[in-house]
Amino acid sequence: MIFQCRISDFLRALGMGARRGGPGGGRSAGVLKERANMSFMLVVMFFAVFGLIVLTEIFLIDDRHGSNVGGTGALGGHRNGHRNGHRLIAAPDRPDYEEVGAEDYTGVKGGFDDHVGLLVKDTAEGGKPVASLADPRGLPSLPTNVESRLPHLNQSLRLTHADWLNVTNTRFKFFVYSAYYDNRANGGEGPGLIRVIGATKTRGPEQVWCRLWYNLHATGNATASITVSAKVKTIRENWNLKYSATFVICPLPKTPPETAEGPVPNAVPNSVSVVSRLKAPPAHRILIQNRPSDRPNKKEPLAVCVKPLHFEFNRVMQLIEFVELHLLLGATHVTLYNDTLGQEAGCVIRDYESRSAPGSDYPLVTLLPWHHLDMISQLEIRTEGLFAALNDCLYRSMYQFEYVAFLDLDEYIIPRHNDTIPELIRWLGKRVSTKSTGSYSFQNAFFYLQWGDDPSVKQSQTAEEAALITLRKTRRKTKLHPHKQRSKYICKPEHIVEAGNHFVWEFAPGHGTLNVPAEAAILHHYRVCEFGGDDCVKTQSIVDKTAYRYGQDLARNVRTRYAELKEKCSLPDLEPVPAAPATLTESKPQTSPLVQPASR
Ligand SMILES: *[C@@H]1O[C@H](CO)[C@@H](O)[C@H](O)[C@H]1NC(C)=O
Ligand SMILES: *[C@@H]1O[C@H](CO)[C@@H](O)[C@H](O)[C@H]1NC(C)=O
Ligand SMILES: *[C@@H]1O[C@H](CO)[C@@H](O)[C@H](O)[C@H]1NC(C)=O
Ligand SMILES: *[C@@H]1O[C@H](CO)[C@@H](O)[C@H](O)[C@H]1NC(C)=O
Ligand SMILES: *[C@@H]1O[C@H](CO)[C@@H](O)[C@H](O)[C@H]1NC(C)=O
Repeated sequence: MIFQCRISDFLRALGMGARRGGPGGGRSAGVLKERANMSFMLVVMFFAVFGLIVLTEIFLIDDRHGSNVGGTGALGGHRNGHRNGHRLIAAPDRPDYEEVGAEDYTGVKGGFDDHVGLLVKDTAEGGKPVASLADPRGLPSLPTNVESRLPHLNQSLRLTHADWLNVTNTRFKFFVYSAYYDNRANGGEGPGLIRVIGATKTRGPEQVWCRLWYNLHATGNATASITVSAKVKTIRENWNLKYSATFVICPLPKTPPETAEGPVPNAVPNSVSVVSRLKAPPAHRILIQNRPSDRPNKKEPLAVCVKPLHFEFNRVMQLIEFVELHLLLGATHVTLYNDTLGQEAGCVIRDYESRSAPGSDYPLVTLLPWHHLDMISQLEIRTEGLFAALNDCLYRSMYQFEYVAFLDLDEYIIPRHNDTIPELIRWLGKRVSTKSTGSYSFQNAFFYLQWGDDPSVKQSQTAEEAALITLRKTRRKTKLHPHKQRSKYICKPEHIVEAGNHFVWEFAPGHGTLNVPAEAAILHHYRVCEFGGDDCVKTQSIVDKTAYRYGQDLARNVRTRYAELKEKCSLPDLEPVPAAPATLTESKPQTSPLVQPASR
């Protein structure tokens, strides 16, 4: 279905391109002379418009003439049409790596450099030679004499790494969140690119620029800058909504800026501002992560990424079970995003942020802010910009963790024979060649909450043990979903370019998915009937107690944690163990298993 949508976009783009590209056609004219007149008129109009564009382009940068609002608008319109038309016609779904290939520069640069060339000729009064114009490909950024006229960086701007920020002066909503250096193309050769995670209009996003800031010294505020034209690439899973998660891609120039004191100390910029108008002073400054100088020497085995928490999320027990069980499964880190969060859950997360798994260099949990994404969930953008979060987490984890799992709080990938996920992956590597494996896919199994609790819950030693969903719910749908449908995956982030919810959209060249056989591991998904109602409990089911492998350790760890946090975070009392040991005769009679409450 998604592919169909893309094709229709593509056709639409083609139509748009054709309309914009040609000077009309005068098909409607009947008389030959009338037709000739009309053609002549159209040609004149075309040149008039073109002249106007050139003029406004000059006014835009040249401050001698002041800014020209109308002109800027016309320019913006032209640019948008031209660039997006080009991008979409060339390849609606073209991978990033090709997008930054040399042949693509020719296409994009053609239009871009023509403008820059005109600018430079007109504004270089000092008679400066414009050497780089000879080869447009050697000019992937604004020339220095233009750059030096652009607004400088306001040193008091906060340096952010995870905050939704406005790109100002855009006609449609345009937000940016985080920025990552990515030099994986061409086997690490070449200057690489800066990948900004953002959100904006799904179709025809506006033209923006990346102002790249290079620190001049190891300390202090002095910066040199380079400005490049950005490519806005819509993240594929957009559900046809008005806005979607995007990558704003800033191709780095081949050479970093030269200053009077020589080249900048680090060829990769420190921070970036995304602007829609070159003359507008940058309103934010985003830290560029994953620079080679910042990458740790060794990776920890496994991290988990969870989509933004919303609806005042406050299911404390679910949260604790999720973190504690993933620790047992071999993860050392969980990334969460705070859209809206209840008081108690927030308190529990803060506590986890101050702890680390044994031997880990990272906090057990990181909570990143997710508010100020001023888009209406489901109506304007899919589930709180879920795909921006997934891809932010992918890049954030890339050089810190060998493997990353993308899961919701009601999902667990449970190995059938191995204790931990890294052990399972190692074992798979002995069975089949996993050299080119970028992701491991696990089939979904629903453990519907409407099915009754496992009888052994009554033998629970503690209320915490009895509350654990992975021990209470052991009945699951016999039939698993096929891979890619509701499946989840664990990936090697370095081999992934674009992460989706149920599968990887784009791998680094030469990598793919391994469908993990259900005998080795499946995805346990604890939820109510997916189509509403209670009819799903009539489907064929079996009892699956694989998760009991962790039962004892999990119950002990959750009990310890709950006891520690109970007072600090004002956690509620847990329900007692149902129909507990014979001594507790006053407990109320058992309800029929099929009408157990869906969740606590
Ligand atoms: C720089 O930013 C600060 C606060 O963000 C603001 O108060 C100040 O006016 C800005 N300075 C300039 C020169 O724009
Ligand atoms: C972003 O800009 C819009 C208008 O351009 C404004 O209404 C909104 O408050 C801004 N949001 C933030 C977080 O600055
Ligand atoms: C850097 O900028 C900040 C904020 O404007 C200022 O307080 C600080 O003194 C500056 N540092 C240097 C070394 O100039
Ligand atoms: C989550 O975000 C809200 C703002 O939306 C903030 O008030 C709250 O303190 C945050 N919670 C935590 C635990 O940081
Ligand atoms: C993982 O499971 C397989 C299959 O049962 C087993 O042969 C292997 O020894 C296990 N590896 C570890 C480290 O437990």
